[in-house]
Amino acid sequence: MVTGSAGFIGSHLAHALVQAGTTVIGVDRQDPSTDPTAAANLAALRGRSGYHHVTADLLHCAIDPLLIDADAVFHLAGIPGVRPSWGPQFGDYLASNVLATHRVLDASTRIGVPRLVVASSSSVYGPTDGGASLETDRLKPASPYAVTKLAEEQLCLAYAERPIGPSVVALRYFTVYGPRQRADMFTHRALHAALTGQPLRLYGDGHQRRDFTYIDDVVAATIAAAVVPTAHGAINVGGGSNASLLDVINIATSLTGRDIQLHQDHARNGDVLLTRADPSRARKVLGWQPRVDLHSGLRVHMQALAAQVPDYSRAA
Ligand code: NAD
Ligand code: UGA
Repeated sequence: MVTGSAGFIGSHLAHALVQAGTTVIGVDRQDPSTDPTAAANLAALRGRSGYHHVTADLLHCAIDPLLIDADAVFHLAGIPGVRPSWGPQFGDYLASNVLATHRVLDASTRIGVPRLVVASSSSVYGPTDGGASLETDRLKPASPYAVTKLAEEQLCLAYAERPIGPSVVALRYFTVYGPRQRADMFTHRALHAALTGQPLRLYGDGHQRRDFTYIDDVVAATIAAAVVPTAHGAINVGGGSNASLLDVINIATSLTGRDIQLHQDHARNGDVLLTRADPSRARKVLGWQPRVDLHSGLRVHMQALAAQVPDYSRAA
């Protein structure tokens, strides 16, 4: 079962699993027959015999019947995004990231699912001193979103300590990019601005850095986390492409041949200046390392965006 299968990462994961011959039950509260983002994300899976979509809210639906015979649960459903979590939507973050996760854990335990892989986040680390973050570092989440992701991750790991629960791998994804990335995220917005000529709002001075991680690398780590027999605990999924926002702007400009019009804005609360993964645990436990460099990944991301809109294709 893949939860959040109509979302950015979940749809890529479901597609890769089906391509590998796995039968996938995808659960998401967005209905692909009415929601254009869900429809676009699931387009490549429509009509595939290995993929069964269930439109349901994990806060209310019966989860047990969906888990019969499941070898693994990939729990990616949740409300992402750092900045909006300060607003009135916080209740939704809490409900989907923590309470829905609790229901998935209870159901997985009742049905006896052997492995649960949960999407955690680099945001659980909070501000760092400039070095790479290790899974054993002290965690200091700096936004309401990050607090819910830490609660989600720790809830899953607490369940895994019980003799009857599934074994749990909590993957701390670092800023994922690539085709179908959420439209609120920076790389999407930078490429969109370069392709359309519309302005890009820059929060802060653009020197903040992220370990940008390409979607195919994230999917590979996520599948490895379900199949490696001894994997458990928190694991960083990032590394290899540490860059500033200004670096991304420069690459977007060179890929499209167009300048980006910048609108400077103030830095946002809870935005950390740097994320950087120490990927050694992922290498040791999952046999995983990132393969796609930022320039190559952004090129594919840009081409996918350009193909969506005729005006883009001319610019690209
Ligand atoms: P996304 O918003 O594209 O996908 C999440 C999906 O979960 C959505 O389709 C949404 O409808 C679904 N969902 C939310 N609440 C639900 C509920 N109660 N019941 C059923 N479905 C529900 O986000 P994404 O970028 O693909 O992120 C996926 C996961 O990875 C999230 O848990 C996010 O916190 C985590 N994550 C993402 C990134 C990133 O860079 N994108 C980095 C770190 C962690
Ligand atoms: C991303 C995801 O959005 C989170 O869901 C995820 O948990 C997190 O990565 C993670 O790694 O764990 P973030 O790093 O904030 O969070 O990624 P973006 O939303 O792409 O923002 C990156 C930077 O660009 C931030 O400093 C942000 O302020 C800036 N930004 C974003 C802008 O300057 N302008 C924009 O229009 C959007």
